Amino acid sequence: MTQATEIKSYYIESYGCQMNLYDADIMASILERSGYRPSRALEEADVILVNTCSVREHAEQRAMGRIRELAGLKRNRPGARLAVCGCMAQRMGQEILGLIPGIDLVVGTDSYKNLPKLLAQADGLRTVETSVCAQQSYSQIIPRYRGGVSAFVAVMRGCDNRCTYCVVPALRGPARSRPLKQILQEVKGFVVKGCREVTFLGQNVNAYRDGHRGLQDLLRKADQLSGLYRIRFITSHPRDMDQEILLAMADCQNVCEHLHLPLQSGSDKILRAMRRGYTAEEYRSLVQRAREILPGVSITTDLIAGFPGESEKDFRETLRLMRDVEFDDAFTFAYSHRPGTAAGEKKNQVPLGVRQGRLERLISLQREITHKLNQGLVGHTEEVLVESRSKRNIQELTGRTRTNKVVNFPGGQELIGTLVKVRVKRAQSGTAWGQQASGNKFEATRRAEVKRNTISLPSRK
Ligand code: SAH
Ligand code: SF4
Ligand code: F3S
Repeated sequence: MTQATEIKSYYIESYGCQMNLYDADIMASILERSGYRPSRALEEADVILVNTCSVREHAEQRAMGRIRELAGLKRNRPGARLAVCGCMAQRMGQEILGLIPGIDLVVGTDSYKNLPKLLAQADGLRTVETSVCAQQSYSQIIPRYRGGVSAFVAVMRGCDNRCTYCVVPALRGPARSRPLKQILQEVKGFVVKGCREVTFLGQNVNAYRDGHRGLQDLLRKADQLSGLYRIRFITSHPRDMDQEILLAMADCQNVCEHLHLPLQSGSDKILRAMRRGYTAEEYRSLVQRAREILPGVSITTDLIAGFPGESEKDFRETLRLMRDVEFDDAFTFAYSHRPGTAAGEKKNQVPLGVRQGRLERLISLQREITHKLNQGLVGHTEEVLVESRSKRNIQELTGRTRTNKVVNFPGGQELIGTLVKVRVKRAQSGTAWGQQASGNKFEATRRAEVKRNTISLPSRK
């Protein structure tokens, strides 16, 4: 066999958000269509792809460390190729080649279709392809299915917002949605392979559009697919969280009662400076509305500590809103300066020590709230979609409630991929433990309650 026709293997290491994980499956599919096969181990792969994230400086530093390590590994393996993909490739392009010798290829997020061609050419040449293509949505490519019970499906790419701290729009380009029909097709294909839960992905998933149809229509259509038990979607932007979406969630049996609704800050001054497009009061009303329409809905959020100009008073407004809303969980971050963003140019940067101190206060308050809310699960029966065996205790299975809380319980392999009623016995912040319960009463009551609330609503927006 000649070098050119030899079957090559690939290995993808992915960092960052779920969109990046999804993209890894798109890349895998593109490579496999061109004759590559997945490598069992990174050390044996002919092509190593590092799929990077740029959202915070720390993410980039970690990725750089890892890429250096892999470049070192590659030195002992002549013929192997190292490609840097994802958001950092898009942001830094040529610059990474200068920083790390040993990288063969830098491929941005809109150029994955060219991977096979670029890899074939990458013979001693160090190539960079990072053009932004505002039409690229990879809608014709069926991503590799990872197996398992749960899958991500990107319904849109890019973002039209301009949150002043965020590097994503500059890297991922403008928002573009995939046709509804193609999305449903992709989900159906996954269901045939054993998928029972799908999470629709978009940087601002509420802005999904196919002609006059929006996310609510996609949810309603997906709810009718047989064999699919659960539907989720992330990330919702509070400004675009239309009542129609909440109503669709209430009406659709399989759409789970969970919203990821990033608040970022509880101070109107900071929200304005972030260009988020809502006030703290508007956010509170939205949460109240969501809880009226979807009793028991869980609400998670993202928070940034130490945005430029954030005073102690501003920060306390965030703490106050956290206490009032009682988020089920929060992803908390210290503000990180990102090159090219409007906030990065500001003179009133908060010292790193203060940002870190505030971050710790966010974490500790949220831990307290999450712990308290999870104690509330004890004694209740929850519907759990079983995902796998627990990694910590192989006698136990692990799954999630409709509200996205992790529940472990003893049980057999055959329950993986099924819905099980579990009575919760004890809970910590991150996980709850229980025993299998019998009967289907819980679900019937729960849905009836939701329907009643939907019917009593005033006129739709
Ligand atoms: N599209 C989503 C998520 C974007 S990135 C959204 O609009 O919410 C995920 C989270 O990272 C953001 O919600 C924000 O809390 C955080 N983040 C983004 N840029 C950041 C920065 N420069 N510094 C710190 N946190 C940041
Ligand atoms: Fe970034 Fe804001 Fe777009 Fe989210 S909505 S990706 S935070 S610009
Ligand atoms: Fe990171 Fe890019 Fe996602 S910057 S958070 S991998 S869109």
